[in-house]
Amino acid sequence: MNKKSVKDVEVQGKRVFVRCDFNVPMKDGVITSDKRIRGALPTIEYLLQHGAKVILCSHMGKPHNIFTPGFGLTKKEKKKVAALPENEQAAATEAFLAKAAGDRDSLTLKPVADRLNEYLGGKVTFASDIIGPDAKAKVAALKEGEAVLLENVRFDAREEKNGEDFARELASMADLFVNDAFGTAHRAHASTEGITHFIPAVCGFLIEKEITFMGGALENPEHPFVAILGGAKVSDKIGVITNLIDKVDTIIIGGGMAYTFIAAQGGKIGHSLCEEDKFDLALSLLKKAKDKGVKFLLPVDNKCAKAYDNDAESCFSAAGEVPDGFMGLDIGPETIKLYTEAIKGAKTVIWNGPMGVSEFSNYAAGTRAVAQAVADSGALSIVGGGDSTAAIEALGFADKISHISTGGGASLEFLEGKVLPGIAALQDK
Ligand code: 3PG
Repeated sequence: MNKKSVKDVEVQGKRVFVRCDFNVPMKDGVITSDKRIRGALPTIEYLLQHGAKVILCSHMGKPHNIFTPGFGLTKKEKKKVAALPENEQAAATEAFLAKAAGDRDSLTLKPVADRLNEYLGGKVTFASDIIGPDAKAKVAALKEGEAVLLENVRFDAREEKNGEDFARELASMADLFVNDAFGTAHRAHASTEGITHFIPAVCGFLIEKEITFMGGALENPEHPFVAILGGAKVSDKIGVITNLIDKVDTIIIGGGMAYTFIAAQGGKIGHSLCEEDKFDLALSLLKKAKDKGVKFLLPVDNKCAKAYDNDAESCFSAAGEVPDGFMGLDIGPETIKLYTEAIKGAKTVIWNGPMGVSEFSNYAAGTRAVAQAVADSGALSIVGGGDSTAAIEALGFADKISHISTGGGASLEFLEGKVLPGIAALQDK
């Protein structure tokens, strides 16, 4: 996967439409983490320094599509209104519309424009619409080295529907498209895929980095290659396990999904998480790993609790011997030793998903130990997923990791070997 980047094209004097992922967490109108904004800065700064007129675009959350021409109630809301007595319907309709209008305030990108300006010295203006008069006027007024941020692109339903007319309108504002929104690259939306049908399209530095690290690890890894997969459900990681089993030397399993593998082999798991309908699949993955000579490591012991509660009565048990009335919420000390040892000699490590309920302080030891082992390994290391990334950051290990992926769903799909539409649509080198 060798895509052209902003460095491979002329940007001086060009109107450049940059799709970013500014879907940042907010509380009461205040940005609580601007990591995604900082992640987009290298591309934006490069474009501004090289004399481009920059049009920034992003989604935030999943808002009502209040800018869509003829916007009204959603199908679900209409159904709810219709179920009410006739004399209550008008008030209910109004309440739904008022709630939708509230998204205008809670999911606006205006705070992002303000934060960008703190980093970019006031070079960014904010347009209160997407393809409307304000956006058009502000784009027309752009000078070289200036930028405008358009309003939340998902305020228009045609974004997620990848509407051709909407994509054409977005494209008509610019000469070049730059996709730097890795987090949304798995979505074929108008501002990630549709737009590429109308103007030349290349990647920004963030997507380039994701492709270099994750693509490099999948296509040409240095061995031993260890994949560490955690999280609650086997069903969420089937695609990743299936794709990685052909590439890695060792797969390490942690988190809730481990209990499905253990129960499928006849182990006692008490009240632990379990997907009984995935037993056959779990057994076939274990067989596949065995046939291929891939080490498939499951927990050998657990830390268990009487309830899904940090402070509930707890105990340690051997794997497959969780006492009745208890549930496994973390890997145990023997498993920590086993996993740490397996990670030690790796040359390439991919980690996605926690080893236990890492948001509970009493059940975070497994995830922390794996974070420590990955940081100490000296391997080319790639970490994805919210909980694994949080563990790495909380321990101050971020600078010991080769690459922390900025995508949630997008990095999982990438690891599954899927083609991400927002990347596939970009020009090859
Ligand atoms: C994310 O937060 O993972 C990205 O911004 C994508 O958001 P989405 O799942 O709403 O498309």
